[in-house]
Amino acid sequence: MVIVGAGPAGLVLGNVLHSGGVDCVILERAAEEHVTTRARAGFLAAHTVRVLERNGLAEGLRRRGQRHGVCEFRTEDDRFRLDYGRFGRGEHHTVYQQHELLADLLERFRGSGGRILFETEATVVRDADTTRPSVAVREPDGRPGTWRTRYVAGCDGRHGAARRALKPGSVRHHRDHGVSWLGLLAEAPPSLDAVGYALHRRGFAGHMARSSATTRYYLQCARGTTPETWSEERIWDELALRMRAADYGPLRRGRILQRTVVALESDVLEPLRHGSLFLAGDAASLVAPSAAKGANLAVLEAEILGRALIDDLVHADPEPLDRYSARCLQHIWRAQAFSHWMVELLHGATDPNGDCRFQDGLRHSRIEALRTSRTQQDWFAENYVGV
Ligand code: APR
Repeated sequence: MVIVGAGPAGLVLGNVLHSGGVDCVILERAAEEHVTTRARAGFLAAHTVRVLERNGLAEGLRRRGQRHGVCEFRTEDDRFRLDYGRFGRGEHHTVYQQHELLADLLERFRGSGGRILFETEATVVRDADTTRPSVAVREPDGRPGTWRTRYVAGCDGRHGAARRALKPGSVRHHRDHGVSWLGLLAEAPPSLDAVGYALHRRGFAGHMARSSATTRYYLQCARGTTPETWSEERIWDELALRMRAADYGPLRRGRILQRTVVALESDVLEPLRHGSLFLAGDAASLVAPSAAKGANLAVLEAEILGRALIDDLVHADPEPLDRYSARCLQHIWRAQAFSHWMVELLHGATDPNGDCRFQDGLRHSRIEALRTSRTQQDWFAENYVGV
């Protein structure tokens, strides 16, 4: 079994397969240090924590993760806090930085004898429509190599080799939300004890705790923005303005460690199985980061795929594998629906020449429903924490 990509999807899958007695190798393009230090997501849904726990992968997050169950909305009118951990199913998020989780998963995988090859890029997946597919690779010294196997799991993200191998007939449903975010990692303690969502005429601003010393911030920015045009001073001034620091308290400033511009896009590939090739994580579906679903979906799909592969390879039961695509697509569309709702909640009209009033009216109404309706709060909580 060959797994391409060592993100949350690939590493969870590798661990599940290993503990189920299936031999596998993980091929990863990047260097080990890159995988275990690059700051990315960090909001784990309750179900994700359960998946990691039942597969023996939750030790680090149990020790260092922090429970989170409140978000705060700031609007033109005022602010309100939504204690979502008390609504819906009463579930919380665990804040645990993705690179820490990946380091835990890697250690566990290696500890159980798993093989992982860094700086090994999959260039082509061949013969996916047969029972003897292969993955062509560029090895660390630049030489070509080939891995032959029974199944290939494409966990290599949206620009990976798995997507490139798909034949005509596979469908990609795509939505460009027309907005971009400047994603920032600040060397500064969180300024709120909640996830902060600020809706502002100048654009959305977001605040998410990552650790006691680092905070993730987001600023909606124009398409085509280059991160370098944002100085630290400009970033903090704009965050303070949009988050209404003058009214609700100053932000704790610090060095900006990372800045990247993300265009908000979503897509879903159908089906997720192509003969002997399976897609999981971002390779299967890209979710806009508005509701932090990407890594959670990746973990969910990896477990479903891992168990189905064990059923097929160890117990000679191919049925769960046949159902993999349909089963995951249900979860994916549900996550897409909520993320899309969040995109519309957080951003004003995106057409600079258009009339914003209709969009603003809708946003105002959604916020009011969230503020006042218990049913709406339950719905939000269930979808926000769930996958
Ligand atoms: N060959 C080998 N490895 C590759 C190749 C390739 N051709 N292309 C990409 N990769 C590797 C990348 O270097 C990366 O480490 O695949 C990995 C994919 O990992 P992620 O991008 O983290 O994707 P995934 O595991 O699907 O997790 C998705 O994680 O950060 C969150 O929210 C984010 O939605 C995202 C989620």
